[in-house]
This record gives sequence, C-alpha cells and structure tokens, in this order.
Amino acid sequence: MLQKLQLQLQNNIINFRNAFSQIPLNNNVTIIDCNKKILTDNLINVQTQTMPKNPKIIRQSVICAENFSLWYGGKLAVNGVTMEIESGGVTAIIGPSGCGKSSFLRSINRMNDLIPNSHIGGRLVVDGQNVYDKRVDLVSLRRRIGMVFQRPNPFPKTIFDNVAYGPRLHGIRDRMRLNEIVETCLRSAALWDEVKESLSRSAMALSGGQQQRLCIARALATQPDILLMDEPCSALDPIATGKIEELIVALKEKYTIVIVTHNMQQAARISDKTAFFCLGELIEFAETNKIFTTPSNPQTEAYITGRFG
Ligand SMILES: Nc1ncnc2c1ncn2[C@@H]1O[C@H](COP(=O)(O)OP(=O)(O)OP(=O)(O)O)[C@@H](O)[C@H]1O
Ligand SMILES: [Mg+2]
Repeated sequence: MLQKLQLQLQNNIINFRNAFSQIPLNNNVTIIDCNKKILTDNLINVQTQTMPKNPKIIRQSVICAENFSLWYGGKLAVNGVTMEIESGGVTAIIGPSGCGKSSFLRSINRMNDLIPNSHIGGRLVVDGQNVYDKRVDLVSLRRRIGMVFQRPNPFPKTIFDNVAYGPRLHGIRDRMRLNEIVETCLRSAALWDEVKESLSRSAMALSGGQQQRLCIARALATQPDILLMDEPCSALDPIATGKIEELIVALKEKYTIVIVTHNMQQAARISDKTAFFCLGELIEFAETNKIFTTPSNPQTEAYITGRFG
C-alpha cells in the first residue's frame, strides 16, 4: 500500500492532500519526491483524531500578492493588488479588456520579464518564496508554474515530442520513462484516446481544441503545482470549450489553477473563487457564487450585469 502510494506520488498522480487520506492509521511514513529528496520523514503519525474528515478543506494560500504593481515603462498596468489564492481549486480573473488580467497572470511566473522596460513593485509570493527574489531560478519557477495561452501554441514537432519537451529539458532521457510521462499527461489532458495511434504525427495537424489540450498536456509534463491559463478557450468552438472546461474541473483536484476569462458563464461554471479587476486594480475577490449573485462592490455588479466593460 505504501509502495503504491510512493509510486503515485513519484508520478504526481495524487497530491499530498489525497495522499494523507490514503495513509493507514497509526503509520509512520517517509514521503520522498521524484528526485528521492525526503519531503517528510516519519512526520506523519496519523491518528483518528488528527485525520481531517474531509481532506479537501485543508487550504493554504499558495499565491500571495502583496501590494503588487506592474509597469510597462511609465504605464501602470497592475495597481497595488493584494490577494491570496489558495492551493487547489480554480480561481477566475475577470474584468474589462486592458484592465491588467493577463499582466497580473504573467507576473506569477515572471513571463513579463521578457517585456523590455517592465518593472514591478510590491511582492508576489508563491509557496512562501518571493518570485521576484534575485535568487529565484526562472527555469525551475516556470517548471512549477505552467502556463497555457489564449491561442494554442504547439511546437512544430510531433505530438510525442511536444509533451516530452519539458521533461527532456530537465534531463529525462530514458525512453520508457518518457513514454510513461507522455501517456500520463495526454490522459490527464483527455487527449490520449484521440492521439494514441498517432504520437509521431505533427502536432500542427491537430484541430484547435486538440492542440489546446496538447498544450495543457505539455504544461503538465513538467509536474507543475500551479497552472496559469490565459483565456484558454477563446479560440475554440463550444464543443472544444466544453472539453477544456471539463478538463479544468478534473485537474483542479491536483493543481492550483488560475484562469483569465472573458466568458462569465465559464467563470461561474468552473471556478471556486473569482477576482474582478478594473483599470489595473483588484476591485473584488470572493467565492464565485457570491461574486455572481451578491457582489459587494457596485462596479462588480455593473460589470457582471453587462452595464459596463
Ligand atoms: N507588452 C506590453 N507593453 C506595453 N503595454 C502593455 C503590454 N502588454 C499590455 N500592456 C498594457 O497593459 C494594460 C493591461 O494589459 P493586459 O493585456 O494585462 O490586459 P487584459 O486585462 O489582459 O486585457 P484583455 O482582456 O484585452 O486581454 C493595457 O493598457 C495594455 O495596453
Ligand atoms: Mg489579456
């Protein structure tokens, strides 16, 4: 049982929350990550009274913006945002065009670093570490925080090579291991059944919806903790959108997902919490149900009822 648990953890099939619920009572266990680094050593002495009834209710904030601002040259795009995003679940970011949603999202894994003259103020802390700390290794940061963009952007390579790209970059060469990763990620992205016979075909020959699911599989292949999605369905038809939405709901058990969307029905359908941005500021952040039924701020209400934006 514990061996199986260890294997599942190594393959990142389950997360720690789920892992804890599988550990037999009164057992000392050592949990290691895939690099055989000891994460917890005989730390867990699980007893009935310490076992949470519903492991899902354990939530820690994983992304913490503290008065975070972003400028492009002299232009302020994100203005003093303070918010905490809990681990697990889906957080939607909504707001009118140009209000800084993508800028804020890209700040989380420092994609804005690529834009000349961009600079930031305040702090953005992920898993207790300020991502703008000089010591942060960007490659490993982006491995932990994957990103999926508005337009599917597969590499002009085979389906297999797209998914294997990240793991190879991180030094995995063993063909069996790569086969395993590619299959697991394509299954997680609900694409395996459609492409398993044609892994050596060009990714460019897939449909838009399939390409977007391939990009999600590619993002999952580096075993991220957080998935950032910037309008991942806006280039897709309703059927492909439905598949991506189902996928997001399935993935939220294992990943913390932050999604920017212009589609308010989509935000209402798939997210647990919603943040409303306007003119670079965070106006309101609450349970999705509350935002869409009884928002506290009149600006949020005006936006969700279509009176502006
Ligand atoms: N690379 C850039 N260089 C300069 N200004 C930028 C850049 N990217 C975005 N901006 C500006 O920053 C502001 C916020 O843009 P951002 O793309 O974050 O908005 P958004 O809310 O994602 O909009 P949309 O819903 O249209 O995607 C806008 O005024 C935009 O013009
Ligand atoms: Mg945007």
